[in-house]
Amino acid sequence: MDWGMKNRLSQIIKPDGKCLFMPIDHGYFLGPTSKLEKPGETIKPLLPYSDALFVTRGVLRACVPPDNTVPIILRVSGGTSIVGKDLANECITTSIKEAIRLNVSAVGLSVFIGSDYERQTLQNLAELVNEAEGYGIPVMAVTAVGKELQKRDARYLSLCCRIAAELGAKVVKTYWCENFDKVVDSCPVPVVIAGGPKTETDFEVLEFVYDGMKRGAIGVNLGRNIWQNPHPVPMIKAIRAIIHENATAKEANKIYESGKKNK
Ligand code: 5RP
Repeated sequence: MDWGMKNRLSQIIKPDGKCLFMPIDHGYFLGPTSKLEKPGETIKPLLPYSDALFVTRGVLRACVPPDNTVPIILRVSGGTSIVGKDLANECITTSIKEAIRLNVSAVGLSVFIGSDYERQTLQNLAELVNEAEGYGIPVMAVTAVGKELQKRDARYLSLCCRIAAELGAKVVKTYWCENFDKVVDSCPVPVVIAGGPKTETDFEVLEFVYDGMKRGAIGVNLGRNIWQNPHPVPMIKAIRAIIHENATAKEANKIYESGKKNK
């Protein structure tokens, strides 16, 4: 692996081999998502606890100060919306030249496996890898399910992760599911856990992050369950403890509860 590629990967994956990515890219198809209406304000208290920020070029330029030192993973796919016909009908929205201009550490895009746009989104991934590799930029593939959240099981997600890795993704982001080790064990590149919609209880998030890490994930790319929480800083600190300090879900919950009290 070339020095540039290794260097960029080491910016987003910390020396312990783990990572906490903070996604704020939701507006690219959801518009002004709840608690992300003003992304700059949402992320300000969270940046010190984030290992990387997953963001579109528009929000990066408009809401993230250029003296920011948190590594950037640039969301480069899109072109659809929640009110449109099919979320899967994505194209590449942002060039590699733009990624270089923005000095990003990685680029990320979604693939929609099993959808009507499977081939197109996989081709997006393959072409992005072809281009990004030339400049030493790692690609993170997001195994997206659109509105079909029920698709999230080990059989389907291992298929998606494996295909994304085969096409050259350096990191794959996928949903947590029961038997998550099946997903991780059959994926030859590191897997990070996506959050999904806000869970009913706060403890559920800590539990699935803990389970996913125990079963081999290297970290998370988890947004709404942090910044839609009324106590986002205690929550990110608790999740960070699971990822970087090997805390159990119960130990992380203590960090969360005491953070809430000390606010
Ligand atoms: C949207 C994304 C988001 O980055 C991803 O869903 C993670 O955020 P959350 O934890 O809120 O689900 O890729 O397609």
